Amino acid sequence: MAESLLITNIGELMTQDPGRGRDTVLRDAAVVLEGERISWLGPAAAAPAADAVTDAGGRCVLPGWVDSHTHLVFAGDRTEEFEARMAGRSYQAGGIAVTVAATRAAADYDLTRLLLARAAEAAAGGTTYLETKTGYGLDVEQEARIARIASTVADQVTFLGAHLVPAGLDADEYTELVCGGMLAAVRPYVQWADVFCERGASTAEQCRRVLAACREAGLGLRVHGNQLGEGPGVALAVEFGAASVDHLNYLSDADVGLLAGSWAGWDADSGSGRRGTVATCLPACDLSTRQPLAPARRLLDARVEIALASNCNPGTSYTSSMNYCVATAVLQMGLSVHEAVRAATYGGALALGVHTGRDADGERAVGSVAVGHRADLHLLNAPSATHLAYRPGMPLTAAVWRAGERGA
Ligand code: NIG
Repeated sequence: MAESLLITNIGELMTQDPGRGRDTVLRDAAVVLEGERISWLGPAAAAPAADAVTDAGGRCVLPGWVDSHTHLVFAGDRTEEFEARMAGRSYQAGGIAVTVAATRAAADYDLTRLLLARAAEAAAGGTTYLETKTGYGLDVEQEARIARIASTVADQVTFLGAHLVPAGLDADEYTELVCGGMLAAVRPYVQWADVFCERGASTAEQCRRVLAACREAGLGLRVHGNQLGEGPGVALAVEFGAASVDHLNYLSDADVGLLAGSWAGWDADSGSGRRGTVATCLPACDLSTRQPLAPARRLLDARVEIALASNCNPGTSYTSSMNYCVATAVLQMGLSVHEAVRAATYGGALALGVHTGRDADGERAVGSVAVGHRADLHLLNAPSATHLAYRPGMPLTAAVWRAGERGA
């Protein structure tokens, strides 16, 4: 029998479990972890005995953050590009090439060490489930190397060969390579494929070819879309039934309508029905690139499921702080605290297909606190989740459990 841990005297337990109807926030609560899973939760006064006890001291417990969009396998630094942007330059996709050069030159050992350090930073900030992408290799050998290294650390890995066409290559020939040899080389290490559908990156037609080939290879699909201007990203994501479309700084009414239509068969209150395409908003990236904030409020009002993610990468968002993303979503995007926390936990899990049951690899559900789910918990140094927005920038992560193991 696995060791059990009772976490008791929880002032506010924000479960984010849609299975609980309106009763998703419990006061004076307790949770029991048994090995890697949650085995009980309810009023502290009714909690069963356990092998060990942690007193939360009246503080708040949330599901661990699910960061569903990062680019953590890279070497090098783009401080100068950031400085130029703060001096008035706009973000250009071409900056990716700087990171590609530095990453190609780095040894496996160094890339792994950098990735581990970044994953540790994310965990120390309350992140317990992490997706990361390839996309700074852009040739067969380098993309496969990055995918392999990523798969040793991240919970899920996304193939982003269609991030940028390397200088000097013909775009159509490069797309053929992405769909052929590159896809075959990364396939053992990745669960998802992504495309950067944007001016200066890949055209809709190139993205369509990549998405079709990756779907054929059995990968789930995601899209970077509508980051630098209105464009075909959202429509493409919905057409392909992608699990998520990310960025969304420039949306037409038609884009919002397409996303809303994809959720027509979904009951958000119970978390059941036919899933649509999650709209993943990246507030730290929006601020770092001085783009208009993604219209998270408008999307929620249209009944689109949204996620919040850090997009940690050296170009557009060099932070993995989900506390910061949640605070920004409340303070500047018009979300309530509950909505922002939901988007950063349950929403991320929806975007990665791990919000319920066990996934194909036998992983437990994450992103909400419920019996049977993975024991991923985030103890705040605060009596309520409201403090995430009320005290932005403060060190509010007191402790983290990931699959029942205490970290942070
Ligand atoms: O999600 N938009 C494309 N990819 C990253 C940025 C990559 C970079 O500039 O290095 C993003 O923002």
